[in-house]
This record gives sequence, C-alpha cells and structure tokens, in this order.
Amino acid sequence: MPPMDIVIQPATLDMADSFRQALDVVAREHRYLIFLEAPPVESTRNFIAQVLAKGWSQFYAVRDGQVVGWCDVVRDERPGMTHIGRLGIGLLPEYRGLKIGGRLLAATVADAFQRGATRIELEVFAANVRAIALYRKFGFVAEGRKRQARCLDGICDDSIPMALLKDEVPPAPCIEQIQVGEKQLDGGHE
Ligand SMILES: CC(C)(COP(=O)(O)OP(=O)(O)OC[C@H]1O[C@@H](n2cnc3c(N)ncnc32)[C@H](O)[C@@H]1OP(=O)(O)O)[C@@H](O)C(=O)NCCC(=O)NCCS
Repeated sequence: MPPMDIVIQPATLDMADSFRQALDVVAREHRYLIFLEAPPVESTRNFIAQVLAKGWSQFYAVRDGQVVGWCDVVRDERPGMTHIGRLGIGLLPEYRGLKIGGRLLAATVADAFQRGATRIELEVFAANVRAIALYRKFGFVAEGRKRQARCLDGICDDSIPMALLKDEVPPAPCIEQIQVGEKQLDGGHE
C-alpha cells in the first residue's frame, strides 16, 4: 500500500465513530495503550468536542474516509501546568512501519507548539521499541523509568516518561514538507 493514500487531517466530530473504532482496535491489543478498550461512543464524541472547543491538537491519518491512526496533544489545565500537553498516538496494525506515525507526530506537535504548549510529554512502555525510536527521532528525551509500571496478561513492563521542550526541538527529522489538509506544516518545527 503506498503511503500516498493516507491523508493527515485535523480532527472533526464527523470522524468520531471511525476514530473510536481505530482506538478500540489498538487498545484491545493490550500492548501499547493504557486503555484496554475505547471509551463509549458518547465519551469519545465529548472528547473530540473538547479538543475543538479548547484548542487542543488532534490529527487523524485517513484512508478512504476511515481513520487508520490518530495523534493528539491534550493540554493540562491545572495552575502552573498549562504549558504542558500530553501526547497520545496510534495506528491500526496494518498501517505501522510506513512512516505514517512520523507524519502524524509532526503535524500534532507543530500544532500544539503553535497553540502555546512549550512542553509535550508522554509515557511509553519500555517494550515498545518502535514508538521509542520515533519519539527519540523527534527529540523527545527520556526522563527516567518507572519499574514494573504495568503487569497485565501475565507480563510486567516498565514505562518511560519522555518529553519534548519547544525550545529544545532539534533540526527537522523529516526534511520533506507534509500536507495537512489544506495547510502545510513543516516537520514539527518552527
Ligand atoms: C508507534 C507508532 C505510532 C509508530 O508509527 P509508525 O508509522 O509505525 O512508525 P515508523 O514506521 O515511522 O517507525 C518509527 C521508527 O522506529 C523504527 N523501528 C521500527 N521498528 C523498530 C524496532 N523493532 N526496533 C527499533 N526501531 C524500530 C523505524 O525504523 C523508524 O525509525 P526510522 O524512521 O529512523 O527508520 C505505531 O507503530 C503504532 O501505532 N504502534 C502501536 C500504538 C503505539 O505504540 N502507540 C504509542 C503508545 S506510547
């Protein structure tokens, strides 16, 4: 499948069900996400409505009108923490390893920084080497290690908190410009 078939576009409410289906598939793998299944339809719609109303960042990878991946940055609203955004990302299994994750991450990180975030953080399971490689490529730095952070299905895994600061963003990992709907964003950098 040529990656060209995939469009990266900002979240819209009409894609809520499709986004939820993609989230549900990845959550039910029990490997990568904290969620073990997607939240109910109504909660998912409310979440997207909040993304739109509060100016958070969410982008979808879309193929033939269906969401095959997503990336979001949700802003912290607590006093003293509003510069922080928390990043989540996922692709349906058959769309992994095609660099779509990098396109999603670039669009979402650039958008979050443009909207005022100056620290983007996440937590990744230590066994998730592909995600860790992607985050490092974009300049995310590991900030420690939580030992046996999750024990699920008979397997314990550590988790690694990582963060990217706006003023420490390295040179663009992907030089090429990416198309995001109607507007152009560069590889996650100003
Ligand atoms: C994590 C995820 C978003 C990455 O997106 P992707 O499009 O599959 O990633 P890419 O194809 O761009 O690969 C990312 C990098 O990891 C590298 N990589 C792939 N498999 C690897 C492996 N087994 N070991 C080490 N590095 C690996 C790739 O080579 C690539 O680096 P490069 O561009 O320098 O070559 C996607 O795989 C996914 O959805 N995984 C399941 C959900 C998930 O893990 N979400 C994150 C939770 S924190």
